[in-house]
Amino acid sequence: MVRKLQFIGFIEPAKRGITKPLIIQAKGADGVRETVFLKTLAGYADRPEAAGVELFTTLIAQRLGLRAPEPVLVEVPTKAGRLVYDAPAHAELLNQSAGLNFGTVALGNDWKVWLPELSTRSFPEEMVERVLAFDALIQHTDRSRDNPNLMWKGQVLAVLDHEKVFGYLKLSDGEAQPWRRFFQARTVARHVLYSAGRRLAHPDFGKQLWESVLELELEGGFDECHQSAVAAFSSSKVDLARIRAYLSTLAANAGDFFDYLKASLQT
Ligand SMILES: Nc1ncnc2c1ncn2[C@@H]1O[C@H](COP(=O)(O)OP(=O)(O)O)[C@@H](O)[C@H]1O
Ligand SMILES: [Mg+2]
Repeated sequence: MVRKLQFIGFIEPAKRGITKPLIIQAKGADGVRETVFLKTLAGYADRPEAAGVELFTTLIAQRLGLRAPEPVLVEVPTKAGRLVYDAPAHAELLNQSAGLNFGTVALGNDWKVWLPELSTRSFPEEMVERVLAFDALIQHTDRSRDNPNLMWKGQVLAVLDHEKVFGYLKLSDGEAQPWRRFFQARTVARHVLYSAGRRLAHPDFGKQLWESVLELELEGGFDECHQSAVAAFSSSKVDLARIRAYLSTLAANAGDFFDYLKASLQT
């Protein structure tokens, strides 16, 4: 399901990113070479569980029909930092990250970083809605105006960077409407697509994505994505039981979730 590649060389540091991603060359078992944005284990610093979360959530995004760069596993040999000559901090991160690391295949130079002042008017409304609904559902807090984690090409949006998700689940354990804390923190108003969402809000906003979530759960997709994350990263702490409990609470009271989502887009 998730391709495994071998690190073969360093290209350059990524221009953005708190985890200091590296753009590298990697090779598959079939000899195919890919340019990959590598997020090193060491780059996640004191959050070793982040790689598993990122893999799980990126796979879920793809299965829900969002465009996301292909997640891959990159085997980094020991002392790979020796191949990095002009970026000492990145060399050090590589040296500390021997083993399997998370990466995504580079989208290509014709993709651009989304800027908050751009208009979504030429993009399919359903695509904009899906990104907003997905981020609300998984409590994604890292697609804000100052850090979009969103790219575009033509009329397509691609989402990336999914390590900061479900941050409000633990806090709201056992609550009847556990999503309310996420909305009350005004996370939606900081979203890079917030104003587009305001314009597009309609009575059934987000419900198509929710139906896809239910279908994915029925076909065992959450389990499969979770297994991929755990198999790749033993430090993965994706709490599928808690996520599942949250989704069943939501299923029982979806109206309240969508009311909050729409209200968040209207304030
Ligand atoms: N697969 C990819 N294709 C193209 N650009 C990418 C890809 N992955 C990451 N990037 C670029 O690198 C930046 C940093 O990656 P990101 O996953 O956001 O790392 P961080 O968690 O450190 O913010 C992104 O904002 C984006 O501009
Ligand atoms: Mg980022």
